[in-house]
Amino acid sequence: MLRTADLWNPPKKDIGEDKMVSGKMLGALNEQINAELYSSYLYLSMSAYFEDAHLGGFASWMRVQAREELGHVMRLYDYVVERGKRVELSAIERPPSNWSSPLAGFEGAYKHERKITARINSLVDMAIKDNDHATNNMLQWFVAEQVEEEASASEIVERLKLVGDDGRGLLMLDRHLAEREPEEE
Ligand code: FEO
Repeated sequence: MLRTADLWNPPKKDIGEDKMVSGKMLGALNEQINAELYSSYLYLSMSAYFEDAHLGGFASWMRVQAREELGHVMRLYDYVVERGKRVELSAIERPPSNWSSPLAGFEGAYKHERKITARINSLVDMAIKDNDHATNNMLQWFVAEQVEEEASASEIVERLKLVGDDGRGLLMLDRHLAEREPEEE
């Protein structure tokens, strides 16, 4: 008979494949969920900074990015659940709330993405060492995504450097960034 307690704490499935996600890998995936949540938090904070600076296009770009990061969270979350493992959420660090200029903000975003890329690469290394092909395969989506994320942040950094102190150039870039649409999941 199924007891109410079982509904809240269903027994873990013990299929052979589950064993291939090691405890260490599970811990690392849960940490990556936290890192992606922090990314979302950071970009939402940047969005608020740009709103305050009356740069609605920059703010909108960052808002779309914050939502995309939540998509990354859910991709990892769903994978952990699919493997019959337990997602453990932890406290999200407080992000900065001010930057000295739009350029400083985007330089921060680029630096952050490089850190995320390094984290993803370490996860892939761990999966390869564990012979965990399924996790490695899931992570390859993130490897490709990081190439895009680094490229888009770096491109905006370069444009901001070209714009320099030119207010009109900044407003033109703001209009361009406003066009970013959320990606289909
Ligand atoms: Fe989810 Fe921007 O890395």
